[in-house]
Amino acid sequence: MSNNQDRKFWAAADRHLIRYGGSFDPAIIERAEGSYVYDADDRPILDFTSGQMSALLGHSHPKIVSTVQRQMAKVAHLFSGMLSRPVVDLAERLAALAPGLDKVILLSTGAESNEAAIRMAKLVTGKHEIVAFSKSWHGMTGAAASATHSAGRKGYGPGMAGSLAIPAPNAFRPRFKHADGSLDWRTELNDAFDLIDSQSIGSLAAFLAEPILSSGGMLELPKGYLSALKEKCRERAMLLILDEAQTGIGRTGDMFAFQRDGVTPDILTLSKTIGAGLPLAAVMTTTEIEATAHDRGFLFYTTHVSDPLPAAIGLAVLDVVEEERLVERARVIGKRLFDGLVQLKQRYECVGDVRGRGLMLGVEIVTGADDKSPDHELGSQIAAEAFRRGLSMNIVKLPGMGGVFRIAPPLTISEGDIDLGLRMIAQSIEAALAARTAAPGIAAE
Ligand SMILES: Cc1ncc(COP(=O)(O)O)c(C=O)c1O
Repeated sequence: MSNNQDRKFWAAADRHLIRYGGSFDPAIIERAEGSYVYDADDRPILDFTSGQMSALLGHSHPKIVSTVQRQMAKVAHLFSGMLSRPVVDLAERLAALAPGLDKVILLSTGAESNEAAIRMAKLVTGKHEIVAFSKSWHGMTGAAASATHSAGRKGYGPGMAGSLAIPAPNAFRPRFKHADGSLDWRTELNDAFDLIDSQSIGSLAAFLAEPILSSGGMLELPKGYLSALKEKCRERAMLLILDEAQTGIGRTGDMFAFQRDGVTPDILTLSKTIGAGLPLAAVMTTTEIEATAHDRGFLFYTTHVSDPLPAAIGLAVLDVVEEERLVERARVIGKRLFDGLVQLKQRYECVGDVRGRGLMLGVEIVTGADDKSPDHELGSQIAAEAFRRGLSMNIVKLPGMGGVFRIAPPLTISEGDIDLGLRMIAQSIEAALAARTAAPGIAAE
């Protein structure tokens, strides 16, 4: 019998764990190393989502392990009014990577970084309305959850007053089209802001955006979109906040995704990848915005602000990204993965779309080549088949869209493991399709 079927373990999990969303994978994970996690039978599972899209350097990177050990032994946590060298060093390193964003605060999670950014935007503009995308995900705490429109809005009472949303551009399912059928995002954006202007009470503080909407189905903002969005913000004296929780620190083939577009946000939030799997987040902004916020008494005093341990990890992450040339690697190996996925799209009608950039890609599962109808059932079956074969891929299911696999392996992944993952995806698609042919009634929901 498999050690993963440890009855006591699952009974205790059932009895004591609060279920916080989705279901748990049917394995007990004992350890992780590089691009693999290992279950209770010591079976390797290729991690195509870098943990929760965070393990940028793979699991247990030796440099991170030694940094944790060294810094833990020196100093891990301090009174929030005390400073240590790793904090100032990391702020300096980040500022050098994002010219114009010279001021940094170091926090713990993505939601928290967006709370701080929203709080700062409100204080600095003296306004309170926050606009985000209809398929956004910015976190599970108050203001961040209010700006999260892809899931989790129902049943928790009112969100923050002044939470507004515009549609996320979707080139695979365009709402506004040019004559050739391609996405007319400019008309869509103009139309969306007409609606925002008609709903706003005149207190637009900020737009909060992901450069690639991940939980929203890996929707990439088209080239030119960010600069048009920044112009919309400028016209309304709003700040542009970019949330690069997943796209930051090289994943898209640029250090930050906004650099491809040449658009610097007023405020940048980083999390997930900056700690490469450990809880570290950062908010970056301009000297002017920080000065205004400070003059108005900006308060974001938390238990773990400016803690030395996560800051030391952030420094180690930047060192490894530089030493192993991982930004460039995301581009090169991302192309290998993208090309392989496109071949799958050519081979299987149910692969409707392949999108994204660098090592942050999406694969949308649909009913057929001429039918973009979502096929969530097939997507779930493919995910289950993949897991059985030793490949972990996350699938998001959103109303009106097919199941979308979010594929974001560690930047340190080998070519061999990319090719192995592609083979396992192909086998999983075949197995899911074969099961459907064998028992058509089961799949048709
Ligand atoms: C773009 C983005 N922002 C923020 C968050 C929230 O981060 P956390 O879960 O660390 O609070 C997430 C989490 O998935 C995310 O994808």
